[in-house]
Amino acid sequence: MTVESGSSHVFQGYVGKQKAYAKEGQGVYMTIEKNGKEYKHVFDAISGAAVASLGWGDPDIAGIMSDALTKHTYSYPGLIANEEAEKLAKFYIDHSAPGVFASALWTCSGSESTENALKIIRQYQIERKKPRKIKIISRECSYHGFTLGAISIGNTPRGAAFKDMMINQEDVCIKMPRCWPYRDMKEGETEEEYTQRLLDALENIILDNDPETVSAVCVETLPGSSIGTPVPPKGYLKGLRDICNKYDLVFMLDEVMCGTGRANPNGKLNCWENFLAPEDAPDIQTVGKTLGSGYVTIAGVLISPKILGAYVEGTGLILGAQTYHSHAFNCATALGIQKKILQNGLTKNVFENGNLLGKKLQEALLDEPDNFVGDVRGLGGFWTIEFVKNKSTKQPFPPEMKVGPCFADIALEHGVNVMGLSGADNYGGTWDICLLGPSFIITKDDVEVLVQRLTKAVQALAQKLQSKA
Ligand SMILES: Cc1ncc(COP(=O)(O)O)c(C=O)c1O
Repeated sequence: MTVESGSSHVFQGYVGKQKAYAKEGQGVYMTIEKNGKEYKHVFDAISGAAVASLGWGDPDIAGIMSDALTKHTYSYPGLIANEEAEKLAKFYIDHSAPGVFASALWTCSGSESTENALKIIRQYQIERKKPRKIKIISRECSYHGFTLGAISIGNTPRGAAFKDMMINQEDVCIKMPRCWPYRDMKEGETEEEYTQRLLDALENIILDNDPETVSAVCVETLPGSSIGTPVPPKGYLKGLRDICNKYDLVFMLDEVMCGTGRANPNGKLNCWENFLAPEDAPDIQTVGKTLGSGYVTIAGVLISPKILGAYVEGTGLILGAQTYHSHAFNCATALGIQKKILQNGLTKNVFENGNLLGKKLQEALLDEPDNFVGDVRGLGGFWTIEFVKNKSTKQPFPPEMKVGPCFADIALEHGVNVMGLSGADNYGGTWDICLLGPSFIITKDDVEVLVQRLTKAVQALAQKLQSKA
């Protein structure tokens, strides 16, 4: 087969099709070229993939990077530490509640963070002489990245093709029900009853799997690309924490997409602070995306005093190290970015203006009978529009219609970049969502522009779907 002339040489996305190119950007706006057409002044409503916390072309980044470059080129993190990684770790620890985290590992991606967290948990159990504790319970329909370990604790069609290579799904990487009130809460069930049903399901799974062999429970605090930002119901995360305490399990939260300022109510970093008191904090937490704002490839694993203590009292040696862990340039840049976000109150800004965006979208879209919007949900700077064929029964569109991706194309025509996704579970359930996660610099005026453009895009999608019907 010959490759079409003019097609991409980058092995990513679709092969043999022309890709969309991001050409340039400023603030929350970018220019995209697609199929030979240039789209200027496109509102990047998903900041890449909920990444670019400072937006495009921040004027301070060049200076931050230039300082970082002159200080440190490279040292191997397994043997020689660097000040920049230390400072970033201290920053994250100091800006979380006191005593919650004690240490951090800096990686280059969220997937790598998941992969490392699994190994850190495993070694923790060995260090404390609990080698039988090996099972990890995570949720159906969850996404934790795309390495083999990450797809093993994840559960999406994206990973399903690699099923035969995954860590054993029956005995090691066990799944509990997803948490998705819009789709799974039964009629007449209260939020508390739904929470209890999910917690009972988890407890039964633990009891059926010999609690002495269960090691950890892992969930995304606010799921994103998998099922689109369902806010956990009352008591759910606290209930998971309590079950972990009861059965001596590690409580792991994945905040790669929802964390590091995207949805913190207090101008700080962690999303779980919406739902949990510091004494119920996770034992281990993954982070990424907004940490480096897309300017550097950095993600991390945050480690509680409890986990660290087992290593200190055990062998004292952390097994494994990767060449580009704790990379000084990445850490220094991420620290500069985080300081700027803090100094400018941008976490608070995205929490307030993100919630305003969500509220305005709910007002504009939910009561409109013929627009196929079933739900608008989210928190802070992380929101989802879910499309359904029937608003009252919540019946989804047939998956072959690819309504989620189709909406992304329509949104681009209306000047907005979103992530339009179609999802599927293991039981024949499907759904279509549009994910929104703007930069932290979003203003009230930006919210108005975004709501107007998205409302028009939703109307255009509805017209298209109606004409097909
Ligand atoms: C919740 C969650 N965990 C992990 C990852 C993996 O991160 P990365 O794509 O940086 O490897 C993602 C990516 O979207 C994610 O949303």
